[in-house]
Amino acid sequence: MSIHKSEIKKITTHQLQAMKDRGEKISMLTAYDFSMASLVDEAGVDIILVGDSASNVMAGHETTLPITLDQMIYHASSVVRAVKRAFVVVDIPFGSYQGNSSEALRSAIRIMKESGAHSVKMEGGAEIKESVTRILSAGVPVMGHLGLTPQSIYKFGTYSVRAKEEDEAEKLIEDAKILEACGCYAIVLEKIPAKLAKRVTEEINIPTIGIGAGPDVDGQVLVIHDMLGITTEFKPRFLRQYADLGTTIKEAVTSYVKDVKDKDFPNEKESY
Ligand code: KIV
Repeated sequence: MSIHKSEIKKITTHQLQAMKDRGEKISMLTAYDFSMASLVDEAGVDIILVGDSASNVMAGHETTLPITLDQMIYHASSVVRAVKRAFVVVDIPFGSYQGNSSEALRSAIRIMKESGAHSVKMEGGAEIKESVTRILSAGVPVMGHLGLTPQSIYKFGTYSVRAKEEDEAEKLIEDAKILEACGCYAIVLEKIPAKLAKRVTEEINIPTIGIGAGPDVDGQVLVIHDMLGITTEFKPRFLRQYADLGTTIKEAVTSYVKDVKDKDFPNEKESY
């Protein structure tokens, strides 16, 4: 039996740490399917997040709560089949880890075994410490997620900026230190003041990945449908839109409909 070593150097947690250590920013984007993940990977993104934002952008739910573990595994395995270089992290969905650490471990193992992903992501700090520790001790890398944690939306009631008050900011810093001490390899900081994100980034040694957390973090993440202009109603201040694919797609579909109605498509060259 021969082993063919790939020419492409895959991203690892060690490389992500080395990027922080040498001041190279980490790029991360979401993807939920094979075709988009191929494009994102070929374009050179470092981390692909199979986010539970799939619940919103793929399934049309109002929140991330309804998506199931089976659905996350389906999305993740489609992404993994496409990826040659990026590090793939998958959200453990709401209801699949909050019960207890055995449930959390079972969910993480299902994701790793059934999708072939490289890591899992979980929302929360001190309250999920036991689960994070248990998953890490099974050899599964864990990415933390602090600040705006969409799985707790009904506890807070809004998607507004988090940790603006001193006590919430101190708790967030403490949580980041707990996640680092547990052995997490990185932490997402969502929608918090830029000053606080900078402080967290300076006070912990593992990479921080920001979304609405300003420039002084170790990397940035966006939801792919938002940055490509496929979703049109979600326009938070932190979002930079790099394309207007929504308009491009609608124009293409309108042309197609017209061509079909006008009996212009297919023409002779497009027929057998
Ligand atoms: O689910 C997701 O897309 C996320 C990002 C917003 C970080 O968690």
